Amino acid sequence: MPLKVTNLKIAYKGIQAVHGVDFQAEDGKITVIIGSNGVGKTSILKGIMGIVKPTAGEIEYNGVDLLKLSSSKRTSIGLSLCPEGRQLFPNMTVQENLELGAYARSDKGVKSDLHDIFHKFPRLSERRSQKAGTLSGGEQELVAIARALMAKPKLLILDEPSWGLAPIMIDEVVSIIKDINAQGTTILLIEQNANIALRMADYAYVMDVSGIVAEGTGQQLLNDEKVREVYMGA
Ligand SMILES: Nc1ncnc2c1ncn2[C@@H]1O[C@H](COP(=O)(O)OP(=O)(O)O)[C@@H](O)[C@H]1O
Ligand SMILES: [Mg+2]
Repeated sequence: MPLKVTNLKIAYKGIQAVHGVDFQAEDGKITVIIGSNGVGKTSILKGIMGIVKPTAGEIEYNGVDLLKLSSSKRTSIGLSLCPEGRQLFPNMTVQENLELGAYARSDKGVKSDLHDIFHKFPRLSERRSQKAGTLSGGEQELVAIARALMAKPKLLILDEPSWGLAPIMIDEVVSIIKDINAQGTTILLIEQNANIALRMADYAYVMDVSGIVAEGTGQQLLNDEKVREVYMGA
């Protein structure tokens, strides 16, 4: 089990935002957490990456206690986050943004990986010298995903990659995520867009402000009447 989160609690200035969450992400799979705005999804990811310090709970990755490791150490053992809202450096070029994704690496493969990434994302290759802030939303999401891949993750964590994208770009992002997974990278995906996320999920969790309230395979949750009613407006 690469990632195991147990009774995770996070608070901001004493106000509880995550109330004890349990989930696991299995090796080689796509694990999804769906939940509405404000239920604490991003906070969980920040806790996993070491951006915020949980007030309670455990986060284990391949048996290692992540809470004992610095944020950059977590990246160097194989975790990489594609953050909510992309968070690119708009005045830097596409290539410079991608190079930043390799910051925690000390190996000599960065140049050839950049080459491979441009091969995988031809649209970014054409725009490698363009400032990231001038790209469309969909292209910026591709840069954010590609940047996260530059860390050579074993576990890629994506925070609402479909947010704000046109349907055709969502399809492209979905197919890229599936492709990354098919090539052996474990995926943890957080989404408000339940319909898209559950269709990709091997296993999924439903979260509300109280914590995880349902779980099952993507297909099971897609067929669940309550999930359909609350998260898919059906
Ligand atoms: N830096 C912060 N300071 C104070 N409150 C925060 C901060 N970040 C998030 N929160 C609060 O924590 C709760 C969960 O937020 P968040 O994790 O972003 O949820 P989600 O990603 O599910 O929308 C919200 O009530 C939000 O306002
Ligand atoms: Mg969020």
